[in-house]
Amino acid sequence: MERRLSVYTLPGEVSPAELAGGTVVVIDVLRASTTIVHALEAGATEVVPCLEVADAQGLAASTPHGQYVLGGERGGLPIPGFDLGNSPGEYTPASVGGKTVIFTTTNGTRAMMKCREAARVVIGAFVNASAVVDRLAGQRQVHLLCAGSGGEVTRDDVLFAGLLVQWLQHRDGIGYQLNAQAVVARENWVSTFAVPLAVGAEPMEPALLAAELRKSLAGKKLVAIGMGDDILTAAQIDRFRSVPEMDPKTLRIRLP
Ligand code: MLT
Repeated sequence: MERRLSVYTLPGEVSPAELAGGTVVVIDVLRASTTIVHALEAGATEVVPCLEVADAQGLAASTPHGQYVLGGERGGLPIPGFDLGNSPGEYTPASVGGKTVIFTTTNGTRAMMKCREAARVVIGAFVNASAVVDRLAGQRQVHLLCAGSGGEVTRDDVLFAGLLVQWLQHRDGIGYQLNAQAVVARENWVSTFAVPLAVGAEPMEPALLAAELRKSLAGKKLVAIGMGDDILTAAQIDRFRSVPEMDPKTLRIRLP
């Protein structure tokens, strides 16, 4: 059976049935997937994505006090009454260690809800890039699902999808059948960083990558609300080795 590697630049480009049986990487570089990696690295026991603020509050109401924190954003900003926003740096051993993070964000958690029929769902961001590539070893149907921003494509996600296509092909040879978006994403990654890649400067300097991410739609939104520092945090390629996995049935995200 041939190996397929597909990129979707927005969740609306694919149906849950098309993801059925495959391995999905959910990508929301700025910032949900980056923040989830940080939360689990900081010792959170699990992250539970919720579609709506009311869903998160309802789950919190049925979870014993002291065992959870509520986190997420609307319009990029912390949600009134929640413990944490969506800045990766807020998720520390002190704030989330040993706790369930009940989490709702505008786009990232929505993308995760598309994956109920997938065989396997992993959470990817620049901060765990190599570990995600390793986790995808041997998978025959790989879907890279970008969350977008407010229903529009955002280049931070597409660049990371492009990095994954490039690194997977480099590792496994050109044996993948790519969809058109996968070709475009790979060309985006390679052409944007043609000079540093040519001189062997991979992984990329975080400042160099952050400068590109800042120009993306999601990056511009973060800068506009004074949260531009999170972009540099998201640009630390391979800072972590953890790959969070979401159980498609229970929708709970844990480190396997
Ligand atoms: C989202 O899921 O929409 C985001 O991660 C947006 C944000 O971080 O502000």
